[in-house]
Amino acid sequence: MAENDFLPINGTDYIEFYVGNAKQAAYYYQAAFGFQPIAYSGLETGNKEKTSYVVKQGKIRLVFTTSLVPDSEINKHCNAHGDGVKVAAFWVPDAKKSFEETVKRGAKPYMEPTKLTDKWGEVVCSGIHTYGDTVHIFVERDNYTGPFLPGYVEWNPTFRAQETGLLFIDHMVGNVGWNEMNIWAKFYADVLGFKQLISFDDNDISTEYTALMSKVMSNDNGRIKLPLNEPAHGKKKSQIEEYVDFYGGAGVQHLALATNNIVETVRSLQERGVEFLTIPDTYYQTVMDRVGHIDEDLKTLQSLNVLIDKDDEGYLLQIFSKPVEDRPTFFFEIIQRKGAKSFGKGNFKALFESIEREQELRGTL
Ligand code: FE2
Repeated sequence: MAENDFLPINGTDYIEFYVGNAKQAAYYYQAAFGFQPIAYSGLETGNKEKTSYVVKQGKIRLVFTTSLVPDSEINKHCNAHGDGVKVAAFWVPDAKKSFEETVKRGAKPYMEPTKLTDKWGEVVCSGIHTYGDTVHIFVERDNYTGPFLPGYVEWNPTFRAQETGLLFIDHMVGNVGWNEMNIWAKFYADVLGFKQLISFDDNDISTEYTALMSKVMSNDNGRIKLPLNEPAHGKKKSQIEEYVDFYGGAGVQHLALATNNIVETVRSLQERGVEFLTIPDTYYQTVMDRVGHIDEDLKTLQSLNVLIDKDDEGYLLQIFSKPVEDRPTFFFEIIQRKGAKSFGKGNFKALFESIEREQELRGTL
């Protein structure tokens, strides 16, 4: 940690989704993604306002929360956005200082530093607003041994799904509106002390095809990487614009979950019903010219629709799920890094070019 880092962060603490039915959402993430049940809060624990289920795999902790009463903040969020990410929580050494330092630099407060206690000890939480209705919560939990946070009890259902090899959150992408990327990049720089990650992705030529612009902001130790997308004018409607239209503003677009074995992970996810984008065969006819040697069997990657990209430091394997809710908004990426530190933007161009080649054969371009 650099001495001048005013916001030291140990890592992501949890990601909380506001959803219409937390019970069923939690089951989907257990059955389809292999997350393990960890903690529960609801009527039985004295919580009359909302119900939350917490699941975990590797270092990834997801919370699904639904309202038990009408007209709550949760209902309004679901009404405006559909199911989506409300909270990206950071595990910090000092939640009070995190709040004070960021608010001093212009953050809009969401939650004053609050001490929560139960029989397992004490946690301090605070929070600030970021893009759209999304918030960051700072969690200080050095003096806590419970299953999640005070107010939660251990959740021990009989159903246990096999894990799928998911390890940690590699990055979390936010979509913002037209001309807002630089505003939010500046917010993360000025208010949270993040730096722009200069990567291979910045100087490629894919903008015309992808119709998006992207900047990656990272905290001091690199454990929090937050790419920010804004729509751009392209040949078709920007996929970012589509998101913003359906989400009703800025929000979290995808979580990239890391694995050490993308072939096994994706095979397992597909068997359990996670749906991924399919890739034209033409992509695999030319991808090796672009990326050079890889350790994996190309035919296997092709059969699973896994994409390959490279930068100066190595390559990466990645795949994108279809949206995991009814609105075409939030989705997952599964990523395995083999040296590469970039985010796979090279694949957008290849993807769109492949599609155009197909169109050309059909005479529809
Ligand atoms: Fe990504």
